Amino acid sequence: MSEPAQNIADLRKSYERAELNEEASHADPLKQFDQWLNEAIAAKVPEPNAMTLATVAGNGRPSTRVVLVKGYDERGMVWYTNYDSRKGTEIAANPFAALQFHWVELERVVRIEGRVEKVSAEESDAYFHSRPLDSRIGAWASPQSEVISGRGVLVANAAKYGAKFLLQPPRPPHWGGYRLVPDNWQFWQGRRSRLHDRLRYTQQAEGGWLRERLAP
Ligand SMILES: Cc1cc2nc3c(=O)[nH]c(=O)nc-3n(C[C@H](O)[C@H](O)[C@H](O)COP(=O)(O)O)c2cc1C
Repeated sequence: MSEPAQNIADLRKSYERAELNEEASHADPLKQFDQWLNEAIAAKVPEPNAMTLATVAGNGRPSTRVVLVKGYDERGMVWYTNYDSRKGTEIAANPFAALQFHWVELERVVRIEGRVEKVSAEESDAYFHSRPLDSRIGAWASPQSEVISGRGVLVANAAKYGAKFLLQPPRPPHWGGYRLVPDNWQFWQGRRSRLHDRLRYTQQAEGGWLRERLAP
């Protein structure tokens, strides 16, 4: 193993860019998320809509991967994928999942937890048909999360489905959207001396959100 250029135990950063407090934050976590995502886009952070998705298999083992949020509103956070993938299988066994955004340059993290449901077929169709042609063919060509014998399988599948569907591939039945319906949000803003700001929003039975500060 090669020596790292710098001892990683000595890598440290002081977070000083901004603060998050009860007065200036929104009472509705969706509005707070919307503001922070728009600030991440304006700051030109790379892939601002990339989020880590954690799922838990039926046997209790968690797993994570990165996906792109493609829409969000009061109903929840939407991404698109292969329903037969590992994440799809795990969501079928256990519908609870967690999402995390880490906007490094803004020293910000958002964590979201909730129950996952499939979006409607109409919603998946509309998004599928908005994608570039090669991505639509790719949804057919890739048996996501399955073992394949080599890259040639993907190239051959792409050629096969490209020839079969020409310019009009329909949405594959195994491909579509999921929506995580949040019941818990956390917003983290890095601060000096490890005294970071954390606000947690918990959904209340009577409606609305309880906003609480957590120790960093
Ligand atoms: C920045 C980024 C964005 C990604 N977006 C998606 C996505 O929106 N949907 C998706 O299925 N996979 C996406 N992937 C690939 C996943 O991270 C993952 O490899 C794939 O979904 C298979 O995961 P699974 O085997 O755990 O189901 C993305 C990867 C990266 C690095």
